[in-house]
Amino acid sequence: MPRQTFVLNGRSVTVDVHDDVRVLWVLRDLLGVTGPKYGCGINVCKACTSHLNGRAFNPCSVRVGDLRPHDRVTTIEGLADTGEAAGADLHPMQQAWLDRDVAQCGYCQPGQIMAAVALVRKVRREGRSVTDADLDAIRNICRCGTYTRIREAIAQGERRM
Ligand code: FES
Ligand code: FES
Repeated sequence: MPRQTFVLNGRSVTVDVHDDVRVLWVLRDLLGVTGPKYGCGINVCKACTSHLNGRAFNPCSVRVGDLRPHDRVTTIEGLADTGEAAGADLHPMQQAWLDRDVAQCGYCQPGQIMAAVALVRKVRREGRSVTDADLDAIRNICRCGTYTRIREAIAQGERRM
């Protein structure tokens, strides 16, 4: 069985698993990291959204064999330790989610938060702020329809990041 090594939430991990197993199953079933949710498995619903080297990715659509040992995978469990929380227990975007009472059933919410953080980082790299068009382009599905509160929380989280 091939050995796969990558960095997960700041620590190097190694698992014995075939190359073509998707990263989502490695996280959830082999490593017990269940923040990234399974919704579709085909890169449509975005429930599994996490970060790869600081940018949004969908682990249901990436083969574990394509990760390199120095690749950094961050899930919602490791978000507060990425340096943007300034010593707080929660990342500013997580705190915004609580302040705005965004979650309903909660299933899509880890992916929503990870997508929101990646969006703010992306627009900052581009030297601008989040626009309505950016918010309209988010593809994370919420079956509970919490989209209005999500947009409010992203605005707050962006201000505090
Ligand atoms: S489970 Fe990954 S995009 Fe739907
Ligand atoms: S809060 Fe239920 S699916 Fe989004």
